[in-house]
Amino acid sequence: MAAQSTPQAARERAAELARVLAEHSRAYYIEAEPTVSDAEYDRLFRELEQLESDYPALATADSPTQRVGAPPVDDFPSVDHATPMLSLANCFDDEELAEFDRRAREGVGVDELAYCAEPKFDGTALNLRYEAGVLVRATTRGDGVTGEDITANARTIRNLPLRLTAENPPDFVEIRGEVVLPRSRFEELNERLEADGQKAFVNPRNAAAGSLRQLDSRITATRPLVFMGYGIGRVDGASLTDSLYGQLQQLADWGFIISPYIDRVTGLAGCTDYYQAMAERRAELDIEIDGCVFKVDDGPSRDELGFVARAPRWAIARKFPAEETTTTLNSVEFQVGRTGALTPVAKLEPVFVGGVTVSNASLHNMDEVARKDIRIGDRVVVRRAGDVIPEVKEVAERGQNTQAIELPEACPVCGSAVERIEGEAIARCTGGLVCAAQRREALKHFASRTALDIEGLGDRQIEAFVAEGLLHSPADIFALKAHRDALLEREGYGEKSVANLLGSIEAAKDTTLERFIFALGIREVGQTMARDLARHFGSLEALQHEAKAYHQRLADVWEQHPDNKAARDRAMAAEGLQAVPGVGARVAQCIADFFTEPRNVEVIEELIAAGVHWPTVDTETTPQPLSGQTVVLTGSLESLTREEAGERLEALGARVTSSVSKKTDYVVAGERAGSKRDKAEKLGVTVLDEAGLLALLEQHRAAVAD
Ligand code: IVH
Repeated sequence: MAAQSTPQAARERAAELARVLAEHSRAYYIEAEPTVSDAEYDRLFRELEQLESDYPALATADSPTQRVGAPPVDDFPSVDHATPMLSLANCFDDEELAEFDRRAREGVGVDELAYCAEPKFDGTALNLRYEAGVLVRATTRGDGVTGEDITANARTIRNLPLRLTAENPPDFVEIRGEVVLPRSRFEELNERLEADGQKAFVNPRNAAAGSLRQLDSRITATRPLVFMGYGIGRVDGASLTDSLYGQLQQLADWGFIISPYIDRVTGLAGCTDYYQAMAERRAELDIEIDGCVFKVDDGPSRDELGFVARAPRWAIARKFPAEETTTTLNSVEFQVGRTGALTPVAKLEPVFVGGVTVSNASLHNMDEVARKDIRIGDRVVVRRAGDVIPEVKEVAERGQNTQAIELPEACPVCGSAVERIEGEAIARCTGGLVCAAQRREALKHFASRTALDIEGLGDRQIEAFVAEGLLHSPADIFALKAHRDALLEREGYGEKSVANLLGSIEAAKDTTLERFIFALGIREVGQTMARDLARHFGSLEALQHEAKAYHQRLADVWEQHPDNKAARDRAMAAEGLQAVPGVGARVAQCIADFFTEPRNVEVIEELIAAGVHWPTVDTETTPQPLSGQTVVLTGSLESLTREEAGERLEALGARVTSSVSKKTDYVVAGERAGSKRDKAEKLGVTVLDEAGLLALLEQHRAAVAD
């Protein structure tokens, strides 16, 4: 860092640094295309800090050093907005939207209107005042007329321009937008807060609002806030287009982030199509939105329409259905899954949430019930986001005469004992295949698309066939052809559909070892694990042999060290099953238990006798370029989905897992990758960007082709 010899040289250097840092910031936060390394940025930043500390007059309001926050204040002074910050009328269905469009068209006297269509960001509003292009004040919305001065806090928002990028900025302009906290950074923030013994935020909106209203702006500076521009208030000394869509492009030119989903649409149909498209996209957006905003695009029409109270007649928010609501928990039932796991299911007073009526919701397991302190009779918060299963999130209010939720001692389906292993959250029915619920779920799994893939034998058919006594165990599926007549008598079945079903059952006999292992439904053995086991052992016999050996060895080790778990673990770690990637003591035990249970062995024999077969997996001659390598995918990729990337990596032999550890070979970090990338960097794991991933795939594809 060269010391500047004269104040004049210092001033010039400081201006140069401020300009360069702002450019790098813009490239990083707005274009998402960093132009320098973090280290280089830090070096330039420190040089500027040093200059400003030597010459305090150089620390101007738009200096990038102002982003780190200022000493705390006692409260926020009130400030009037130059033009009021209006609110928006809301609507919740297509009819109300149609009504809005009709009134607007009639008000203007036209047949069709063009609208500027935007996402409605779920954060907290901010008004920014720029004079001669420099940010001079930032205020909360307040009551719409007067807000609170939170300039020091706003300055810490990294993507918010401290100076507009314009040759001739307006003398004065108010920029409106929403401060949000991206979903990908929310969990990370909460983890950090909890680690510091502070309270976590309930949702990203509260996190954004809470962070922005910190009296100590140095705290705000540590929060990953983002400013999304959506409008312009008063402007002096510049003539802007009267099209709101055009004004948003102007915001982008001045250096603001605007939503990539902004569009100009025509008529009611344009609005409803836009709404549908956004509703479908909603779940995958990193910035939470709670609806869409439609604003009449052209200025003269807006002037014609004017305002009612404090909301314009030319704009409306079409809200998404609420994803959370409260209702009463009437009772709890226990569902039995494929592996016997008992899941408490809440029976609710029906409510409309997330766009559907919900009367059942998951309570996950008894640990969750205890942690959330949920009792029958409570008012509870129910959440249904996107297509996910509705869940009881928390207690809203303790009910009167509530009743504890208790785990049954006997399985509600088969009456077998329920066991709960110390330290495990999950309670299980011990009935195994005696239990009709476990049998039914095991059959569903067996026939499912990722297992034996029997077309025409879906969950609904299996439930019916089990109820009618046509199916008890997987091998019965292959005996269905002997029941052609019974099938033909069933409602909805004709010659053709029965022939199709029997045909797909025949076809399913020709399978692969990995599908077969997965279809067996061994606890803890998912698709990836089934593939690893198939590749490692090559044949079912070899796997069964090793599982039995493991079981035997475990019995011996128990005898040798009945009181020393560490010694047992050490002895077992060297055993064959644990040599398979991803198989630890727990999984090995599940595999060993499965293959030593006589009924399971019987089912396998029956299936093979029925003609189920697969080619042997050649463990020697099919070396795979990425075998033994573990890859974690995080963030979003542009040219392919994460699933596709995963499949292509697996096709080359890699294991794709979800958590980063020292053993991970690569972390592929796409857009908005968060804590996983950070962890990889901390652990020294190679991080690849999308281009790096494509290069890796290409290189090995070429190698395979050779
Ligand atoms: S326009 C006259 N556009 O929603 C128009 N508001 O009551 C005034 N909001 O708290 C607002 N996304 O902060 C507008 N694309 C968007 C928006 C948006 C979120 C918030 C705004 C205010 C509320 C409107």
